[in-house]
Formats: sequence, C-alpha cells, structure tokens
Amino acid sequence: MQSTNAAELLAQIRVHGAVPRHVAIIMDGNGRWARERRMPRPFGHRSGMRAVREVVEGAVEVGLEVLSLFAFSQENWQRPTTEIDALMSLLQEYIARESDELHARGVRVRALGALDRLTPAAAAAVNRVVTRTAANTRLTFNLFISYSGRAELVRAARLLAEDAAAGRVDPAAIDESTFAARLYTDGCPDPDLLIRTSGEQRVSNFLLWQMAYSELFLSPVLWPDFTRGDLYAAIRDYQLRERRFGRVSA
Ligand code: IPE
Ligand code: IPE
Ligand code: MG
Repeated sequence: MQSTNAAELLAQIRVHGAVPRHVAIIMDGNGRWARERRMPRPFGHRSGMRAVREVVEGAVEVGLEVLSLFAFSQENWQRPTTEIDALMSLLQEYIARESDELHARGVRVRALGALDRLTPAAAAAVNRVVTRTAANTRLTFNLFISYSGRAELVRAARLLAEDAAAGRVDPAAIDESTFAARLYTDGCPDPDLLIRTSGEQRVSNFLLWQMAYSELFLSPVLWPDFTRGDLYAAIRDYQLRERRFGRVSA
C-alpha cells in the first residue's frame, strides 16, 4: 500500500520534471513516538534511524543533489545525559551499519556543526564516513550535528573579522557570497524545500541564513513513521508551488 503510493508519487514527480536540488529536514517527534508506546525516549531515536535510511534512499531515487538532516542541535546538549549518550551511540551505530551502503550508493556524507563537542569515539566515526565517502557524487548528505544556525552565523562573522584583521579581506568588499563562503554549507545550494515533522511549527535555530527563500512543508507525521512516500508527497507539493522570490507572477 505504502510502496504503491510512493511509486505513484515518484511517477508524478518524474512527469512534472522539476525536482528540488536541496531538501532539508528537521527530524522531530522521536520522543513523542516512544511515549505513545510507553517506551523510553531513546527507543524513539533508534526507530528514527529507519526513517533516515528511508529518506536517504528516497533522495537518491528521486535524484536530489543535496539532502540535509538536522540530527542534533547545540541546544540538545541541554537534554539529560542518558539521552545524549544514547544519541551519540546511535550515531556511531548508524555509521557502522550504513557506511558501506551509503558508499555503494554514491552518497557523499558531510558533517556540519560544532563537532569538537562530540565524544572522541563519535567524532572518529563521523570523520571516518566523511573521509571515506568524500569523492562520491550522486547525493550529498549533510548531517547537522551539534549545530546552531546562530552559532554558524557568529562563526562566519568571526572568520571574516580574522581575515579582515589580517588584511586578506577588504571590509568594504564583503558581500553575501563572501559571507556565505564562511558558513558550514559553503558550496551547497540553499534548501529549496524545508520539511519539519511532528506538527511543530518553528525553525528551532536551523539554517537561518540558508532558508531565506526555502519553501516550508510541515508534516504531522512523527519522525520514526516518516517514509519515502512522505518525502515524495512533500516534493510533489513543492512542485505545485510558485516561487516568486519577491517578484510578481509571470
Ligand atoms: C527529534 O526528536 C530528535 C532530536 C531532537 C535529537 P525529539 O527527541 O525532539 O522528539 P520529541 O520532539 O520530544 O517528540
Ligand atoms: C530540533 O528539534 C532539533 C533537531 C531536530 C535535531 P527539537 O525537538 O530540539 O526542537 P524544539 O526544542 O522542539 O524547538
Ligand atoms: Mg523535538
């Protein structure tokens, strides 16, 4: 049933033709998914790994250039230690389990965020998959870990200030592209479509600069239940929209 639906949506997407280059997702609702089952929150995070696999496969299938997933925010460091520990070991487990498959499918994994806050073991696992898949070209998979949009902007300002102080950059010549080049997402197109699951209607400090003109899709589905069919439905919805970028309709 679900797969028929996904296949049908994929066919419709292909007929329409224009696929977003970059889809970003705020994966939310793992805790509520677990609570509905009277299980501890890490059970929801573990189940969320299946949804990650689904959307990565879906992204390859539909032909996205970039898929960005918000996995862990800087604010999430304020959660209970037991939950943080569970998330960090799941990250390592995910990489250990999926690395071969990601590489075989031609996925280039990038990790974006304040990675120096990760445990040495988690950082090593992340670096391994990033290095191993660096030359792949089919899909860029941006994994945002320990990420904050504001911290990214402040970091870019600091890097620019250092370059200016050292005489490498003329302050009068700073423009949007000089600034964007100091963001973690340097070289990546802005997200065309930003999806948030679990019915929450907020940005939660994700991609503040990059989402200037992203189309938003708010899904009621809790992340562990999110399927490639849900991804395709969001892309199909996106295809029916008119992006004006401040101009008037043709
Ligand atoms: C998203 O699910 C995963 C992370 C933020 C790490 P949550 O853990 O936020 O789940 P809810 O929002 O409490 O349901
Ligand atoms: C946003 O979800 C961060 C990630 C999905 C990694 P949160 O669950 O942390 O966001 P808030 O607290 O509901 O805004
Ligand atoms: Mg949440």
